[in-house]
Amino acid sequence: MEEKELLKEAVKAREFAYVPYSKFKVGAALVSKDGQIFHGCNIENAAYSVTNCAERTALFKAYSDGVTKFEKLVVTADTDGPVSPCGACRQVISELCDADMEVILTNIKGDIHRITVKDLLPGAFSSKDLK
Ligand code: THU
Repeated sequence: MEEKELLKEAVKAREFAYVPYSKFKVGAALVSKDGQIFHGCNIENAAYSVTNCAERTALFKAYSDGVTKFEKLVVTADTDGPVSPCGACRQVISELCDADMEVILTNIKGDIHRITVKDLLPGAFSSKDLK
């Protein structure tokens, strides 16, 4: 799928966001190595801390369907510049995606920032730290 189309998939995913508290919708489109697209949106909760971000929704959907190899992740929101993933999502992305995988951060105006997983969270806590 062309990148322009992929950005549209993230925008579509954003429309399903459940955000009664923040009213801040986030969308994600995760492409697996076998070409599937997993959509994710943020899903909030009255107990705020159990809110799930769009990026983690997409990754957990893929993983729970047995899909674990990824090509690219796009994230979008209505932000001034490209949306910045939160720390929890950076940690989860670092755990589940290859260090060199591309992450495309964007917004609904179409601003784009390309970054790799390893640059999203330098010094991430990882399995190596548990040895
Ligand atoms: N949010 C995401 O979905 N992804 C991020 O990386 C940043 C924050 C959501 C969580 C919450 O529903 C709303 O944005 C405001 O923090």
